[in-house]
Amino acid sequence: MRFLGIETSCDETAAAVVVDGTQVVSSVVSSQVDLHARYGGVVPEVASRAHVEMLMPVVAQALVEAGVTGAEIDAVAATVGPGLIGSLLVGVSAAKSLSLVWDVPFVAVNHLEAHLYAAFLEEPTIELPLVVLLVSGGHTMLVSMEGHGQYRLIGQTLDDAAGEAFDKVARFLDLGYPGGPLIDRLSFDGDPRAIAFPRPMLNDGLDFSFSGLKTAVVNHVRKHPDVGAADVAASFQQAVVDVLVTKARRAASKIGARGICLAGGVAANSQLRMRILDVCEEDSLHAFIPSRSMCTDNAAMIAAAGYYCWQRHGASPIDTGADPNLRLSVL
Ligand code: KG4
Ligand code: ZN
Repeated sequence: MRFLGIETSCDETAAAVVVDGTQVVSSVVSSQVDLHARYGGVVPEVASRAHVEMLMPVVAQALVEAGVTGAEIDAVAATVGPGLIGSLLVGVSAAKSLSLVWDVPFVAVNHLEAHLYAAFLEEPTIELPLVVLLVSGGHTMLVSMEGHGQYRLIGQTLDDAAGEAFDKVARFLDLGYPGGPLIDRLSFDGDPRAIAFPRPMLNDGLDFSFSGLKTAVVNHVRKHPDVGAADVAASFQQAVVDVLVTKARRAASKIGARGICLAGGVAANSQLRMRILDVCEEDSLHAFIPSRSMCTDNAAMIAAAGYYCWQRHGASPIDTGADPNLRLSVL
């Protein structure tokens, strides 16, 4: 089954062709980062308009790079939520139109579920049960994955998402947008032990809280205006990674997982990737760390999740709507 995947939930316009949920034949991502950078964050109206302009050229490029025509596509999968409603509608409308024109199934995909599937694209034989640490700009979750479509939410953030904390701290330090990659890079020049920022809820279950940490960074910099930005970035990153790694490890031991899998944009973080590899080795767990381009938003993961969804449930009704608040459906 040759799936065309379409992703427009936030600020990346993406299309990909994936065969049988595992073979990525093309994956095109057009980022709107430059459009939003001057505002310090994603402006929803600007994002939807940019998706309208870019989507068909991106789909055309994905087909050309895959060496196929529309007539050779067997199904079209698109993100229906969660995300920005205006942005979602562009991808959903396009996907439904293409499925009608080509007379192939339309498959509605949950963006969070798609992030869980990113690792399967590179490692189709992952052994379950698995703890997935899903850390993105909008979500921070620990998911126990017991089978395809069988998820249990075992931990989540009570306030800010990890990526949101990276973006807010970067904005406060005047580093630019999006903050995660900039803090990641700057941290190589700083000392992670320079400032002892709090590790929120470290010894407390599997939930997270990052808004107090962000406030601690702001307070520290206001009190010590001469502190080096690299030391602040490295110490903040260390605090976030300490909490994420400790809880992922605790979750794996609690559910008797075979491995830990990273997903979502923050999974591109260099420190997080190294530390997860280290603890998995110590605890004799498999570490599944997708390549950076599979961690951040892309359409290959949408096509892959679409394939597994279609295997379980078949085509989605053509009147399925976009849902900005869609949740991960859990056991
Ligand atoms: O998954 P994603 O591309 O979009 C959402 O679904 O949210 O995640 C974007 C988030 C942003 O907050 C961005 O700052 C963060 O992922 N991010 C990183 C890194 N690369 C992206 N955070 C930390 N370190 C990185 N290298
Ligand atoms: Zn995402």
